[in-house]
Amino acid sequence: MNILLIGNGGREHALAWKMQQSPLCTTLYVMPGNAGTAEIAQNVDIALNNFAGIAHFVLDKAIALVIVGPEEPLVKGLRDFFHQSEALKDIPFVGPARLGAQLEGSKDFSKSFMQKYRIPTASSRTFTLKTLHEGLQYVEKHTLPIVLKADGLAAGKGVIISQDVAHAKQTLREMLENKKFGEASDKVVIEQYLEGIELSVFVLTDGKTYRTLPTAKDYKRIGEGDTGLNTGGMGAVSPVPFADHAFMQKVTQRIIEPTIAGLKKEGIDYIGFLFIGLMNVHGEPYVIEYNVRMGDPETEAVIPRLKTDLVKLLHHAGTQTLHEIEIEEIPEFATTIVLVSGGYPEAFEKGFSIEGAGEVSDAIVFHAGTTQNIAGRTLTNGGRVMAITALGNTLAEALAKANAGAEKIQFEKKYYRRDIGKDLGEDRGLK
Ligand code: AMP
Ligand code: GLY
Repeated sequence: MNILLIGNGGREHALAWKMQQSPLCTTLYVMPGNAGTAEIAQNVDIALNNFAGIAHFVLDKAIALVIVGPEEPLVKGLRDFFHQSEALKDIPFVGPARLGAQLEGSKDFSKSFMQKYRIPTASSRTFTLKTLHEGLQYVEKHTLPIVLKADGLAAGKGVIISQDVAHAKQTLREMLENKKFGEASDKVVIEQYLEGIELSVFVLTDGKTYRTLPTAKDYKRIGEGDTGLNTGGMGAVSPVPFADHAFMQKVTQRIIEPTIAGLKKEGIDYIGFLFIGLMNVHGEPYVIEYNVRMGDPETEAVIPRLKTDLVKLLHHAGTQTLHEIEIEEIPEFATTIVLVSGGYPEAFEKGFSIEGAGEVSDAIVFHAGTTQNIAGRTLTNGGRVMAITALGNTLAEALAKANAGAEKIQFEKKYYRRDIGKDLGEDRGLK
């Protein structure tokens, strides 16, 4: 079948890499893609907000499966657009409709959903400009640290953790009065701080049933030892050693099942990935956030651990027959190290030539922010440039291979964290 994958990050390169291995895949198109997807699929230069252009392309190329990588087209209603068209509505489409995408698009919506379905999460309240005064009082009575979140999409910058009442009040004012994050901070969720270790759980649902993918841990801070600014993610490890059977049973019973049941009960059209960001607080799971997509760079660690044919799996999701397929995992560790442009997540330069990817033999090189110039040279084109994934029987073996790969690739001002996975124990979690 012909497949359209939407997106241009390391996540999409990993999804494309796995889908290309399927005998069911005829032609794979990636829109817009990057220099890595160009090597294994056909990149398509159509803007993600050009829904009419996407529709035309899908019909023209007889696309039989659409997969949406990033959240933005979903929050903007790409699935709804497909559903409203006679010609497109029956094409299997993996990605929720606009209302379901609100689980990521609005923190207020997702908190209300969790409260309604009694899904464990930090206690919270939502305030607007009208209720600013109550918000300020709420901050005063709250324990510290306190977490302030812009309701809408804010490119990963909308969460502020404050240790100080005056600073938190000031931040609340900036968000509501001065529109610090534009419309995204028209509402602000104020919540309790959860102390623990984070992990990511991924679920694929067809709206009726669900399948759980391998767990992963992301490394969000730019600096070693989890210091410095937040990024999109600097590395990942899968599986997560502390997410053992007992912990995952709690996640399934208290979080995944009530979430899927709640979506059904609300009549929300949800076919797609659901990424549950969790905090493990002394062995008890709490939801930090939902995302309506796979994580990046977690995908680059999770997908290479699937034995299951990804096209078959996604087609079953898209045709609401997920009950007919199980997910099989490769029982090895996967570790991913992200190479970034020096300066990221603040200002950085682009356009540097990337060398050495061909010399990496024991790891998979996924492209993220890369492009090809007319001469066919691969150049840096974003903050996160490449994600290097390696598998191993032990965490140490996977890390050694991923680090060796990260070392071989060269571009000006390359930076990466050398401590990915070092905080995790060795063997637990695989049995
Ligand atoms: P979010 O955009 O909701 O994923 O938040 C970004 C990051 O802020 C998360 O990955 C956590 O590291 C942190 N965070 C968010 N909410 C909380 C919370 N209630 N307690 C502790 N840390 C949090
Ligand atoms: N790595 C976190 C995310 O994709 O949001």
